[in-house]
Amino acid sequence: MKAIILSGGKGTRLRPLTYTGAKQLVPVANKPILWYGIESIVAAGITDIGIIISPETGEEVKTKTGNGEQFGANITYILQDKPAGLAHAVKTARPFLGDSPFVMYLGDNLIQDRLSPLLNIFKEQHMDALIMLRPVPNPTAFGVAEVDSQGKVLRLVEKPKVPPSNLALVGIYFFDKSIHAAIDRIQPSARGELEITDAIQNLIDHNLHVEASQIEGWWLDTGKKDDLLSANQIILDTCLLQPVVAGNIDEKSQISGRVQVGEGSTLINCTVRGPVTIGKGCHLENCFIGPYSSIADQVHLVDVDVEHSVILQGAKISGIHQRIVDSVIGQRAQLHAAPPRPKALRFMIGDDCQIELT
Ligand code: DAU
Repeated sequence: MKAIILSGGKGTRLRPLTYTGAKQLVPVANKPILWYGIESIVAAGITDIGIIISPETGEEVKTKTGNGEQFGANITYILQDKPAGLAHAVKTARPFLGDSPFVMYLGDNLIQDRLSPLLNIFKEQHMDALIMLRPVPNPTAFGVAEVDSQGKVLRLVEKPKVPPSNLALVGIYFFDKSIHAAIDRIQPSARGELEITDAIQNLIDHNLHVEASQIEGWWLDTGKKDDLLSANQIILDTCLLQPVVAGNIDEKSQISGRVQVGEGSTLINCTVRGPVTIGKGCHLENCFIGPYSSIADQVHLVDVDVEHSVILQGAKISGIHQRIVDSVIGQRAQLHAAPPRPKALRFMIGDDCQIELT
């Protein structure tokens, strides 16, 4: 059994965060989204992993993630020259996959459920494909399945205007080698992509063994800002179980709840209420850090109140007395206001930024 993780594509929905970087490397609770997928695959006993990368962001993914040693895996990088669709990515990975069955994991998806029970069902029942479904309130944004009263998949459609059900296709699939022939039989969709949804539909049309399983736990597609904040909240809730404080905290600071502070970070006169994760080499002074905040490495915060937000590496914020909530602040972003109260606000803000002064 092998695995491929799709970490190519364009990442337009998380702009401006992903103008310069890969969306799969955006951190959730200070760890790249992609790494959760790798860990989940390794936990299911699959260690031969191919990661699909794009010419634009592939080097960054490679440099950060490495050869897999830190995960107990062997990672092969596979360059997809253009984002021509999920099935095109599988086609590109064919030399790596050979005739092996495989799990395909979309690099911006996170699920709570373990993969091993699903993998066992897939293997024991000799399926051609096993897909995962989850009811969603906005099915038009996903691949959608029409199932009969027994749960058998009748039809799959990608981002339908009129969805046949509210059951979305989760971005994790198990395939046998028969998927390659199905991909060879399909044509690009109206949006010009070779769709994996069409390839699975093709397996169904050829009476091959396709099953669906509804997942029970949470599922996050971190493609958008609010999803990223929800993912951050859920991961901090479920994964940050042990408070670990490795940095220097002065006696005026108060820390309560589940809080992690990385090495080389300094907190002076700060109040931190967990769950919160603070990376390495940060400087925080006169700050309130409220629940569900993730602060990446080398962040500099002075006179700042923040809650339920994600602040990425190297950001610098000072003198913001109003509480910053539900926000994502990009890498190296700078936001400063002179004390005691700014008379005027001066900004230089990149394309597609969203700012709400409420
Ligand atoms: O998240 C679940 C949804 O994922 C499914 O419900 C849909 O059926 C499926 O098509 C997919 O839809 P998205 O619009 O979310 O796919 P997206 O273009 O965001 O790509 C998903 C991942 O695959 C992302 O990490 C980028 C990567 N990718 C994408 C394309 C189009 C590639 O590596 N190569 C590609 O050519």
